[in-house]
Amino acid sequence: MGRVLVTGGAGYIGSHTCLELLNAGFEITVVDNLSNSTQESLQRVSTLTGKEIAFFKVDLLDAEALDTVFSRSDFGTVIHFAALKAVGESVAQPLQYYQNNVTGTVNLCQAMQRHGVTNLVFSSSATVYGIPKSLPLTEQSETLIHEVTNPYGRTKLMVEFVLKDWQRAFPAMNVALLRYFNPVGAHVSGRIGEDPNGIPNNLLPYVSQVAVGRLEKLGVFGDDYETADGTGVRDYIHVVDLAVGHVLAVKKLSENPGVVTYNLGTGIGYSVFQIIAAFEEASGQRIPFEILPRRAGDVAACFADPSLAKLELGWSANRGLQEMCIDGWRWQSNNPNGYA
Ligand code: NAD
Ligand code: UD1
Repeated sequence: MGRVLVTGGAGYIGSHTCLELLNAGFEITVVDNLSNSTQESLQRVSTLTGKEIAFFKVDLLDAEALDTVFSRSDFGTVIHFAALKAVGESVAQPLQYYQNNVTGTVNLCQAMQRHGVTNLVFSSSATVYGIPKSLPLTEQSETLIHEVTNPYGRTKLMVEFVLKDWQRAFPAMNVALLRYFNPVGAHVSGRIGEDPNGIPNNLLPYVSQVAVGRLEKLGVFGDDYETADGTGVRDYIHVVDLAVGHVLAVKKLSENPGVVTYNLGTGIGYSVFQIIAAFEEASGQRIPFEILPRRAGDVAACFADPSLAKLELGWSANRGLQEMCIDGWRWQSNNPNGYA
């Protein structure tokens, strides 16, 4: 089946994907600079699966070190998670985001090219759709670079274009652009999960830190949207479903499809108030909240039409909101301070 190189494999989605790859019988190598993660996540994945992970602490901006990793093994496929992902930080430090996310990807592609590796799975995001003109979002929905609401999101759309141009020039290449909706939850073991640095930007990590007592109360960013209860609606997807989607994408690329693009979401939107209620039920804790003004760059509602992934990958999300909250809570309550 060929060894898989996973960039950013120590991170939240990467560690869950490593676990599913190992369980599916793949051998894996991880490169990560550990700028937003710890190797502890991979040690736990090894323990959970009883399998080894070859790990290299390498920054994608270090082309020479990256090349050395490619010299040591034959990779069948690369899954590319490594990126910076904090929206607010990308507004304050755009050059750092373009350098890390775009240049880092170009370095990776050059190393792949030098070593004859032709299959790449890329972590894209629903953020490339900007402000949705109609819902649900299909892969055909418009992606306009000036409508993407922040530099982080623009790095994702730019990399999509880089990879498409590359594949057009080298038709032997196969690229899967996976557009994630809102990944949440954790592996059922409660041993790996999301461990954000500092105050979380995203809803679920914030809610679970309120539930565990690390934060006092949630701020709800606006209750005057044109949605059923006035709060923002998103397509939350269990991180293990997302991870399984990557294993299927790796298999898909072995059919030499060229460029494929898939939405990975559930197709169901939940509001902030629905999330609070579900998390309260899952955790047995109260989640105090206050209504704050809308957050800049937020859209009212965003959810996927995931039917193409079902048709072409045979993939669909089968873990519901309750399971997302129960698994997220198990991770948070067993590891109140994350991996620390
Ligand atoms: P994460 O921060 O937990 O994982 C990213 C990993 O990449 C980290 O371990 C980090 O140390 C590593 N990394 C960053 N820059 C690197 C570099 N230059 N060289 C080597 N390693 C580097 O984030 P995540 O939530 O697991 O996200 C994974 C990918 O999915 C990212 O590309 C992200 O943009 C994308 N994505 C995430 C979400 C989400 O909500 N979590 C949604 C859509 C897309
Ligand atoms: C955010 C990013 C997006 C990124 C995605 C996944 C912004 C503007 N967008 O999207 O680029 O791809 O994360 O990482 O940051 N909410 C609260 N209180 C909070 C946090 C969130 O009310 O403390 C609300 C938001 O207004 C939104 C919903 O919860 O309605 C989900 O927010 P979040 O988890 O940050 O995800 P996105 O807004 O979809």
